Amino acid sequence: MKKINVKKLHTMKRENKKITALTAYDFSFASLLSDAEIDIILVGDSLGNVIQGHENTIPVTVADICYHTKLVAKGTTSPMVIADMPFLSYATFDKALDNSCALMQSGAEMVKIEGGKWTANIVSELATRGIPICCHLGLTPQYIHKIGSYSVQGREEEIAKEIITDALNLEQAGADLLVLECVPTRLAAKITSQLKIPVIGIGAGKFTDGQVLVTHDILGLSRLTPKFTKNFMSNSNSIAKAIELFKESVRSGDFPDEESSFD
Ligand code: KIV
Repeated sequence: MKKINVKKLHTMKRENKKITALTAYDFSFASLLSDAEIDIILVGDSLGNVIQGHENTIPVTVADICYHTKLVAKGTTSPMVIADMPFLSYATFDKALDNSCALMQSGAEMVKIEGGKWTANIVSELATRGIPICCHLGLTPQYIHKIGSYSVQGREEEIAKEIITDALNLEQAGADLLVLECVPTRLAAKITSQLKIPVIGIGAGKFTDGQVLVTHDILGLSRLTPKFTKNFMSNSNSIAKAIELFKESVRSGDFPDEESSFD
């Protein structure tokens, strides 16, 4: 399989081919996801929860993500590697430039940034300098102490409008991809149809251009599993089969079903 790049992801959106994405934090899982021909491997700051055992992603550092990105890059063949910019590592332009450079030099091929309006300038400056960017809207776990709980975002009309405006502005600023987390299916569908860039959902219903989940969640390894995820291990006799089942379920449109989505 050929290496996945931004152009390929955009072609997949145009051709209505669902994009599959899973997290990995080390060589072995990156190899498994590569063997399964998953399109995107995300070195998520969810490693704070599932690897480091923290309650949230706030303690994760740039050094942590660089370390895990290097391990993942070694095991990755065709998938695109996206690395999360951790909490406040992109709070100013200078920080964003230095830290995204560190992640790209560790093997990332795109970086992911959480947040709306205020990130547009950062996105624009990074994009100009050749850094591919994935924005992340809806539920943004790095804001947990501000929002108070991991709840569905955008049920109220005003907030929904804000998320739509942010998505359009971030695309305009130069974002290459958007992750939408924990938003009502209808809102995600609307955003997906309005944007030219691919939209990858997590708890955002079945009408996005693709789906991302935390690999530990789909393998039943996490202590707390959100409603939007699914244990693909319960119908598989190996990790490789569970990953394959996730991929096929996303491609066929069987996942996410209503149980894993929000109204
Ligand atoms: O950190 C992460 O794994 C993520 C996904 C849940 C989208 O941001």
